Amino acid sequence: MEQYDFRRMSIYQIWIRSFCDGNGDGIGDLYGVYDKLDYVRSLGVDAIWFSPIYPSPNADFGYDVADYKAIHPDYGTMEQFRKVLERAHALGMKVLLDLVINHTSDQHPWFLESRKGRDNPYSDYYIWRDPILKRRGHRLPNNWSSQFAGPAWEYGAERGQYYLHLFSKNQPDLNMDNPRVREEIRSIMRFWLDMGVDGFREDVITYISKHEKLPNGLPWLPVINGMPYYKDGPNIMRYLGEFRTVAREYGAVQIGEAPMTGVKSALRYVSGENRVLDMIIQFDPMMADCFLTEYLHHAFSLRKLKRAFSRWQYGLAGKAWNALYLENHDHPRVISRYGSQHFWRESGTALCAAYLFQQGCPFVYQGQEIGMTNIKLNSIEQYLDVASKNLYHMFHKNEPQEKRMQRIHVSSRDSARTPVQWSDAPNAGFSTTEPWFYVNQNYTEVNAAAQENDPDSILNFYRRALSLRKSSETLLFGDYREYCSRSAKLYMYERSLEGERVLIVCSFWPFHSRYELPAGYTSDRMELLLGNYPESAVGTLRPYEAQVWRIEKERQD
Ligand code: GLC
Ligand code: CA
Repeated sequence: MEQYDFRRMSIYQIWIRSFCDGNGDGIGDLYGVYDKLDYVRSLGVDAIWFSPIYPSPNADFGYDVADYKAIHPDYGTMEQFRKVLERAHALGMKVLLDLVINHTSDQHPWFLESRKGRDNPYSDYYIWRDPILKRRGHRLPNNWSSQFAGPAWEYGAERGQYYLHLFSKNQPDLNMDNPRVREEIRSIMRFWLDMGVDGFREDVITYISKHEKLPNGLPWLPVINGMPYYKDGPNIMRYLGEFRTVAREYGAVQIGEAPMTGVKSALRYVSGENRVLDMIIQFDPMMADCFLTEYLHHAFSLRKLKRAFSRWQYGLAGKAWNALYLENHDHPRVISRYGSQHFWRESGTALCAAYLFQQGCPFVYQGQEIGMTNIKLNSIEQYLDVASKNLYHMFHKNEPQEKRMQRIHVSSRDSARTPVQWSDAPNAGFSTTEPWFYVNQNYTEVNAAAQENDPDSILNFYRRALSLRKSSETLLFGDYREYCSRSAKLYMYERSLEGERVLIVCSFWPFHSRYELPAGYTSDRMELLLGNYPESAVGTLRPYEAQVWRIEKERQD
C-alpha cells in the first residue's frame, strides 16, 4: 500500500499514565485519552504517538512489555483502544504505537520460559552466555554496563547462565539473530496494523543487532562502554529491512529512536526510496546543557543547541526528513533547561518557534504546549524512574546529599512524567482522586484551562505555530539556512522556497538586544507572521522575543 505523506504531519506524544485519568483511580488511561481527543486535535496536530500502553510490570513504565498484543488493564481494554483509534481517525489524526523490541519485560512469558533451561522453544529468544569461570567463582560474560548504570548482565540460576540487559535487569534483550524472534516481531506489527494503527515509533531500534562475539568495551567508559558492539550492529539493515517489508504492505510509517547517532549513520537508515525507517529520533538537541546525558549537567549553551540544530538541518537536506523535538518522556522539561523561569511565557514560546519551523516533523510532548516545568522532590525515595535511582545510588557517592539531589533535579526523567495540568481544580484536574505521582505545585498558575482563552498563552502560540507551519509550503519544504551562528543571544534561521523567504528570529537573552537583517531583506517588504510580543519591530528583540517574518518575493518587472 502506498505510504501517506508523513512529511506534513506534526505529532503529539502521549505518555498515558500521566495524561488524563478517566475512571477516577489516579492513573491516566484510554478513557481520559478519549475525552481529550478533541483537545489534542485542537492543537492542530495530525498524529498521536502513544508511549507503551501494553501490559507491563512498570519496571521502566511500559518500556518493559509483558504482552505485545494486549492493553495494560490500568489503561483500559482493547475495546476502549479501538474506540480511541476510531475517534482519532474520525478527527483526522493518525495513531502511532511504541514498538519496544530490543527487549521485553522479565515477566514476559517468553522470558519466563527462556530462563528455565537451555532446551525449550524459548531458550534462544534472549542473549544468554556462560559466566567466564575464574578460580574464585563466576565472572560476567563481558564488561558492558547497562545504560541505566550497573553491569549489563544478570544471573539466571536455573540455567546457570547470565542474560544481557542493556537497560534495567527487568528488561532482558531479545536475541534478534534468532529468526523466530523476528517472526514474532512481524506478527506483532501485523496485529496492530491489521487493527488500523498507522505506524510505529521504534524504541532504541539501532541496538537490536549485537556483535556476534560481544567483545569487551572500553573499561573506563561508564554506562555506554559496550555501545560500539551493539549500536548499528552487523545485521541491523537486514533485520530492519524485514520489518520494513511488513510496514510497506500497510503503508505504515516507522520512526526509529537512535541514541548517540550522527548524521552519517542516520542517513543509512532514513534516506532514499528503499529506506528502512522514515525518520530518526536523534539526541543532539538534548545535549545543549550536558555531556551525553542530562545527569552530566553543564550550563545551557545556545551555541551548542544551534550547532545541533544546523548539523541535522544541513546534513539531511535533500536526502531525508527530520524528527524535531525538544521534549519527551525521557528528558526534563525544556523551559527549565533552555528557557527561563522568570520569562516563562516568553521563553516557552520562543523555544517553540526555534524548533517547530525547521525542516521535519515536529513532536509536541504532553504538557509542553502549556509550558509545564520540572518538579523538585526532596528525597530520592520520592523518585520512581529506574534510571534516576540507579544513577543516584551508583555515582558521586562522596558528594553532599544536596549536591546529589541537584543532579537528580536537573536530569530526572520524572520531571516529564508528572500528571498533566489541566486546570486549577484539585489534582490539577488530572484525576478526581490522588494521582499515582506527584503533581507539580505550580498547577494553579500553569494549566491548560487558564490558557485556553488567553490569546497570548503558550498553548495558543503552539496552535498558531502548528497551523502556520502546515499552511506554508515554504515552512514545510523550503531550504534551511542559519544566520548569526556565532551569536550567544539569538537563533536566526530562514526557510526559503521559490523566492519566498521566511525568517525566524528567537532571542534567548533576558534583556533587550538588536539584530541585523540578512542580505536581501528590507524592512518595508516584511510581514510578521507570528510573534510572542505585541507590535514587533524589525531589528530589535525584547527578552526571549520570537518573530517570524515573511518577505515578499522580489518583483520580476
Ligand atoms: C527508550 C525509551 C526509554 C526507555 C528505554 C528502554 O530510550 O524512550 O523511556 O527507558 O528506551 O526501553
Ligand atoms: Ca484511570
